[in-house]
Amino acid sequence: MKNKQPLIILGIETSCDETAGSILKFKNGKFKIILNLVSSQIPLHRRYGGIIPEIAARAHLKNMPLIIKRISQKINLKKIDLIAVTRGPGLIISLLVGVETAKTLSYLFKKPLMGINHLEGHLAANFIGGNSKFQISNSKSFPAVSLIVSGGHTELGLMEKMGRYKKIGQTRDDAAGECFDKIAKLLNLGYPGGPAIAERVRQWKSQTTNRKPQIHLPRPMINSHDFDFSFSGLKTAVLYLVKKSSFAKATEDKNKIKNQNFIKNICTEAQQAIIDVLIYKTIKAAKKYQAKTVFLSGGVAANLELRQQMEMTAKKIIPPVDFFVPARNLCTDNAAMVAAAGALKYSRLKPDQKAKLKNTWQTIKPDPNLSL
Ligand code: KG4
Ligand code: ZN
Repeated sequence: MKNKQPLIILGIETSCDETAGSILKFKNGKFKIILNLVSSQIPLHRRYGGIIPEIAARAHLKNMPLIIKRISQKINLKKIDLIAVTRGPGLIISLLVGVETAKTLSYLFKKPLMGINHLEGHLAANFIGGNSKFQISNSKSFPAVSLIVSGGHTELGLMEKMGRYKKIGQTRDDAAGECFDKIAKLLNLGYPGGPAIAERVRQWKSQTTNRKPQIHLPRPMINSHDFDFSFSGLKTAVLYLVKKSSFAKATEDKNKIKNQNFIKNICTEAQQAIIDVLIYKTIKAAKKYQAKTVFLSGGVAANLELRQQMEMTAKKIIPPVDFFVPARNLCTDNAAMVAAAGALKYSRLKPDQKAKLKNTWQTIKPDPNLSL
């Protein structure tokens, strides 16, 4: 994928609770981040233990103009070659803010506009930045298996080549990130649950004794004959454990310490149960399709244990497979990944198709259920 002239892409992302804008440079199959702004709404949603769509949309409305202002201070918007915006899946009222912003900029500056699937963005994060040595133009990297794990999705896909993606498995109920979030809520650990649980696991493992969890939780669907997942049973298993224990009643100091250990124990076992299923199914898919590359992405891919264990297992069981995972800040929602997905799609278009994108602003609509 050679382009002599660099492509400057403006990415916009508002599918959930992060308002994000980014400027990316794409030249000769390599990306360079010029600016990557993410305004997180976590403090706003934390007190509710999850995302409130109405609050998210209002915060996007407030933050988006500030992000565009910061971007325009960094680069003259007339110099942009392409605007890429998340069109779905996501919360409709959140998506609308990003799409309307992108439409307005496309109309004002007469720039091509592309609607991007949020999951396509997560996957494209694998190709950004200094730590990604992935060669976009190298056909020897395919077939590839991709696992996207976020708060809303858990999806396994097969890529026969760049730009050709086929879904081969998905969650039948809760997503892996949702499972982290719901378990954290049950244990009063706050929102978002993934980092809160990961921190308890770190604390548990750094304690000198009792490093192994003394609780066993199920690995749902690990032996199913497909590539689907299910995580709602894991959350229910934790709920029963908590109900059976004296956890909720503890008031004395010595019980509080017991409680903390009980929580760390559950976190360690629950996180490992999620990781075990994700790794097992991904490696099984990679073996079946004789994958040369494994991609991991999405918010849950920020989990250090998942990253390390997936890499170790892939190298051990299916060498010489190449394993890629984006930098941790590019795993959770951001707009650089949206810009990257836009650049890759745009580069594959013919000149007349590219020209038509200047009119996308007239027709583009957010789609909360968009699938990959
Ligand atoms: O991709 P993302 O930022 O937003 C969605 O598209 O959903 O993913 C958010 C999810 C949340 O469920 C959050 O708890 C989880 O990613 N997450 C983590 C970690 N950081 C974020 N899960 C496990 N470990 C982490 N370090
Ligand atoms: Zn996401």
